[in-house]
Amino acid sequence: MIYLDANATTPPLEEVVAAMAEAAREAWGNPASLHALGRAARDRVERAREALAALLERDPRDVVLTSGATEANNLGLLRPFADPAGGTLVTSRLEHPSVVRVAEALADRGVSVVWLPVGPEGRIDPDDVGRALAGADASRARLVAVQAVNHETGVVQPIAAIAEVAHAGGAHLHVDAVQAIGRLPASCWAWADTLAFAAHKIGGPKGVGALASRPGLAPRPLLRGGAQERGLRPGTVDPVAAAGLEVAARWAASGPERHARLAALRDALAAGWGEAAARAGIALARNGGEPCAAHVLNVSVAGWAGDELAASLDLEGVCVSAGSACAAGTPEPSPVVTAMLGVERARSAIRASLGEWSTPAEVAAAIAAFGRVVARATYDSAAS
Ligand SMILES: Cc1ncc(COP(=O)(O)O)c(C=O)c1O
Repeated sequence: MIYLDANATTPPLEEVVAAMAEAAREAWGNPASLHALGRAARDRVERAREALAALLERDPRDVVLTSGATEANNLGLLRPFADPAGGTLVTSRLEHPSVVRVAEALADRGVSVVWLPVGPEGRIDPDDVGRALAGADASRARLVAVQAVNHETGVVQPIAAIAEVAHAGGAHLHVDAVQAIGRLPASCWAWADTLAFAAHKIGGPKGVGALASRPGLAPRPLLRGGAQERGLRPGTVDPVAAAGLEVAARWAASGPERHARLAALRDALAAGWGEAAARAGIALARNGGEPCAAHVLNVSVAGWAGDELAASLDLEGVCVSAGSACAAGTPEPSPVVTAMLGVERARSAIRASLGEWSTPAEVAAAIAAFGRVVARATYDSAAS
C-alpha cells in the first residue's frame, strides 16, 4: 500500500504507539484524582501540554487540550462573539468545514460574516482583509479566521501580512494551523491570537488536539461540566492520548526539515502524472498557486471524476483523496477547488499528500499506477 494521503491523517509513529501502550498500562487513572494513579495520569497530560506548547512556541498555560481541531476551531471562532451575537467575522470558503460551518452558524445568529474573495491561485490577499475590516462596526467584536496551509491544495497563506492588517483593523486573528504544524516553521502561525491543532496530522493519535491562545484570550467553554482544563474544556482528559501527543509533538519539532525534502518527490510525482496524462491524450492541470507546502499535489484530470480516479488508484494500491477526507464519501466536489476554479475543475480533482515515510520508489510506483489507470481508461473508451 502506498499512502499518499498525509493531509487526511498520518500513521502513528512507532514511538507513539509504544508510549500509548505504556500509558494504557501504567497511567490509566483519572488525571483529576489526587492519588498516585491520578497523579501518574496527570503527569502524562501535563507533559503533553508542555511538549505541544514548545512546538507551537506558546506558554503551556495558554494551551487547552480538545478532542481535535474541529473543536479547537469551534472554540476559536465562537470566543469573541458573546450572546446575543454581534460583530464581524472575516473568513473565506477556502477554510476547513470546521470553520466554514461555524461561520455560517454565526451568520444565522446575527454576526456579520464577510467572505473574502478567492482567486484561482487559492491565496488570500491581505488587502481584501483590510477592506473587509474597514467596513466593520468598530464598536463590536471583530475576528479574522484564515488557515495557515490549505488542506486540499497546500497553498500557504500570508499569515504575517494578514495578522498585521487584522490587528491594525482592531481584529483578532484565528489561525487553523493544522496542516502547517510539524511541516512548516512556526513563522507560519506565529502572529495568531488563537490557533488550532490536531495531533493525528503529526504522527500522533486521533481524538486529541488543542486551542492555543495569547494570554488573556482564553476560549469561552462550549461544554458545561467539571473543572478540567481550568473549566475551559470540561471532561476527563485522556492520559493515553496525551502520552502519544507528547511523543509526536517532540518529534514534530524537527518536522519542517524532514518535510522540505518532500518538494523534490512531489515535483517528480507531478511531472510523472503529467507525462502519463499527456501520453493518454488527457489534460492535467495543477490546482493552487505558490507558495505551496512541499508535500501536497492537487491536480484536475480532464474527463475523470476525481472520486473514480481515486478509486482506480486505490485498486492499484495507491491511497490518494478526491477532495478532503471529511468530504470523501459524499458526492460533493471539493468546496475549496470549487471556490478557486469552479465546480467542473473540482469534480475532476485529486489530492496526493506525501509524508515523512514517502520514498522515491513509492513515487515511481504511484506514477506507474496512474499511467496504467489513465491508459486503460483511454483504451476502454476507444474500444467502446
Ligand atoms: C485544516 C484542517 N482543519 C481542521 C481539521 C479538523 O481536524 P479533526 O478532524 O482532527 O478535528 C482538519 C482535518 O482534516 C484540517 O485539515
